[in-house]
Amino acid sequence: MRILGIETSCDETAICLIEANGSFGNDFEFRILGNSLISQIAVHAQYGGVFPNLAKREHGRNLVPLLEQTLRQSGQFTVDSGQKKIGTANSVNSKLLTVNLKNLLAREPELYEKLAVFLPKYAKPEIDVIAVTVGPGLEPALWVGINFARALSLVWNIPIVAVNHMEGHVVIALIHNDEGFRCQVSGNSESKTGTYNLEPITYPLLSLLISGGHTELVLSRQWQEYEILGATRDDAVGEAFDKVARLLGLPYPGGASLSALAKKARLCDEASPHRITLPRPMIHDDSLDFSFAGLKTAVRRIVEIHSPLSDEMKMAIAREFEDAVTEVLVKKTLRAVEEHGARTVVVGGGVSANSHIRLHLAEALEKAGLPPPLFPSPDLATDNAIMIALAGYFRAQNRDFVNPDMIKAEGNLRL
Ligand code: KG4
Ligand code: ZN
Repeated sequence: MRILGIETSCDETAICLIEANGSFGNDFEFRILGNSLISQIAVHAQYGGVFPNLAKREHGRNLVPLLEQTLRQSGQFTVDSGQKKIGTANSVNSKLLTVNLKNLLAREPELYEKLAVFLPKYAKPEIDVIAVTVGPGLEPALWVGINFARALSLVWNIPIVAVNHMEGHVVIALIHNDEGFRCQVSGNSESKTGTYNLEPITYPLLSLLISGGHTELVLSRQWQEYEILGATRDDAVGEAFDKVARLLGLPYPGGASLSALAKKARLCDEASPHRITLPRPMIHDDSLDFSFAGLKTAVRRIVEIHSPLSDEMKMAIAREFEDAVTEVLVKKTLRAVEEHGARTVVVGGGVSANSHIRLHLAEALEKAGLPPPLFPSPDLATDNAIMIALAGYFRAQNRDFVNPDMIKAEGNLRL
């Protein structure tokens, strides 16, 4: 089965085409035929966060070029010989189709214009299913991807599956890494030729999902079933990383650069004259919930007192912040493992790229006698389309197809 994955939930526009076969836990395997992504980081950096309407505009601008690039990589980008032109391929009246398309994309004029040029020129590619993120995320941004999926579905007569972005973060962490899976997902990305499969799961499965919008501990007693055990009561952990990074003068999104600063601080430990102490919010609390807003406020107070910050001070803050976050995440994950008898632990979301968190979680689980946690390849930890196509494949296997007229963006969609 060939699945076109579309991801526009936040500030990454991403499209991929994968070919997947078999069922999870048995003979499943997949190949990436094409994969492309444009990050809007530079566009949003000046606002210090993602600006939803700007994200919507950028997605509208990027989707068609990315589709073109993905199809080219997959060797499926063929100029139409005339037989498969829009409107004739599916024996649909082309005028009606054009009108429908225009109505469908009334709120995305730039996308409509690009698609209206693209579609008549090229033959319908071999795609069996379109998998699109419907939530959680920024609704204006999600709508662009959804309407794009609906437009392609209409013109090419391909069914759609609606994908929960967080399920994508779980599934992508299961990619079997023995062959040294590396998937370049930058603007000029290449598709990978290898065949991959997913790690088997011994249930119950515990997923720690840590991203810019989420901090959740989720229990699965079986495939595709989720129970949220705990979540953040205020800021998500990635959001806290980004806000603290901003307080230290680092560009948005600052998670990775803050972590690099913390690493530097650990390397020159002896030389640092500063000792900062930050709270470990809710670490002794009985629940499996999190709270990171107080941690950010504590950093703000330190910054105000010591401003202007020396480089050493910045490093000391970064280190202590990363230690505090890591301790809380590790402690709560272990508590969830014990309370629910989890046998496999998966970590997903952009913050799962963090090497300090990876190291300490792996150590703690080893001490607890559990197998090592499963992490996504670092370049697939942040948002991408492969995770959407993969999750979509398993939904398509269940025949969870949606009526294109009924799909809607759900900003707060839960697992
Ligand atoms: O999953 P993701 O790409 O987008 C959301 O769905 O939110 O996650 C983005 C988040 C940002 O907050 C970013 O700062 C954070 O992941 N992040 C990191 C690291 N790499 C990305 N945070 C800490 N350490 C990292 N190495
Ligand atoms: Zn995400």
